[in-house]
Amino acid sequence: MAVAELSTPSFTNTRLVHPSKLSFSTTHLHSHRRLAFPPLSRTQNARISCSLAPNQVQAPAPAQTEEPKNKPECYGVFCLTYDLKAEEETKSWKKLINVAVSGAAGMISNHLLFKLASGEVFGADQPVALKLLGSERSFEALEGVAMELEDSLFPLLREVIISIDPYEVFQDVDWALLIGAKPRGPGMERADLLDINGQIFAAQGKALNAVASRNVKVIVVGNPCNTNALICLKNAPNIPAKNFHALTRLDENRAKCQLALKAGVFYDKVSNVTIWGNHSTTQVPDFLNARIDGLPVKEVIKDHKWLEEEFTHKVQTRGGALIKKWGRSSAASTSVSIVDAIKSLVNPTPEGDWFSSGVYTNGNPYGIAEDIVFSMPCRSKGDGDYELVKDIKFDDYLLKRITKSEAELLAEKRCVGHLIGQGIAFCDLPEDTMLPGEM
Ligand code: LMR
Repeated sequence: MAVAELSTPSFTNTRLVHPSKLSFSTTHLHSHRRLAFPPLSRTQNARISCSLAPNQVQAPAPAQTEEPKNKPECYGVFCLTYDLKAEEETKSWKKLINVAVSGAAGMISNHLLFKLASGEVFGADQPVALKLLGSERSFEALEGVAMELEDSLFPLLREVIISIDPYEVFQDVDWALLIGAKPRGPGMERADLLDINGQIFAAQGKALNAVASRNVKVIVVGNPCNTNALICLKNAPNIPAKNFHALTRLDENRAKCQLALKAGVFYDKVSNVTIWGNHSTTQVPDFLNARIDGLPVKEVIKDHKWLEEEFTHKVQTRGGALIKKWGRSSAASTSVSIVDAIKSLVNPTPEGDWFSSGVYTNGNPYGIAEDIVFSMPCRSKGDGDYELVKDIKFDDYLLKRITKSEAELLAEKRCVGHLIGQGIAFCDLPEDTMLPGEM
């Protein structure tokens, strides 16, 4: 059990920490937040004792001469600051990466945060700071999450803050994983959902615009994620629109699994799968360009009726089928797909392959309407950026369905005109517009 206590003298496994290295904020605490420990006055000496093995504890950094900037609230053991250059094991590590996660007390995050902290996502030499955004209602749970992160003793996890204020949480972040959104409740119109969640993503876009790294990469998971991503990017004009993604990687993974199952091969043989369009029941899993063992899917799976009808429907409604079984939305597989989405941007895409992501359509080579967020095939050099894939075949079947998903996204956009600086909202959503989980 990791214990941290602030007290007077202490013995083995304890280390005197210079007060300037304690990252408590004593001047900028949000009224709703509670501290794991009472804040120290910056002139007070403090001893921190914790159960980290001596070889995991690094030497304290030299005393700072300048006043540190106000820091948002750190959590427990993560309030200690160590000099990573002071130890052999850590001195070759990369610069700390700041990752914000909204909806941090929810189920998806509960799977995701431990993957981020373990090094599985960004690599074994990449120290991570996790900045967790919750709501007033979820704050106790958020503290519970932070406690579990403490108790996991992840060597790479160097900082954790918890807050309900996006301006604190997004400060200098390199990645923002926006998971928190209101689920559609009984009797709630889709237009209402778009508006309620749109307000959240407009506010978060503004906060990112004000305080995040200018090159922050944003992955929107909260539904309806394509339009939420559009709202977010429109409210963050100082961040490149290209940096915003809506998560459709889960749909891609689902499509790969169904194709593998039908072809009787393991799913690692399935490549080049694009999900086109909206993360909704109009999404288009593309079997025309997809490959199994390097061959076009239609050459391997001869049952084309199955591809057009069963396969497509199954992928479009997989989220709903899962809700029926679980009684709640997918969480573990969603978190895996967020990890996949990040890894696809920070590692070079394998030769000849691509991945799907909902991205801003301006300048797209497929003739899809501009100024929406639409899932399309992407490749990355591994630098966090991506290019759209050019060599794509289209047929009437594919085009017809892409057009339907495009029309749906244009209708969603008209519904949120008031949130993206495009005048008064006008909602004429098609009848069959649904999230995958609403079937
Ligand atoms: C999913 O695809 O599993 C979710 O987006 C379903 C939903 O509507 O919550």
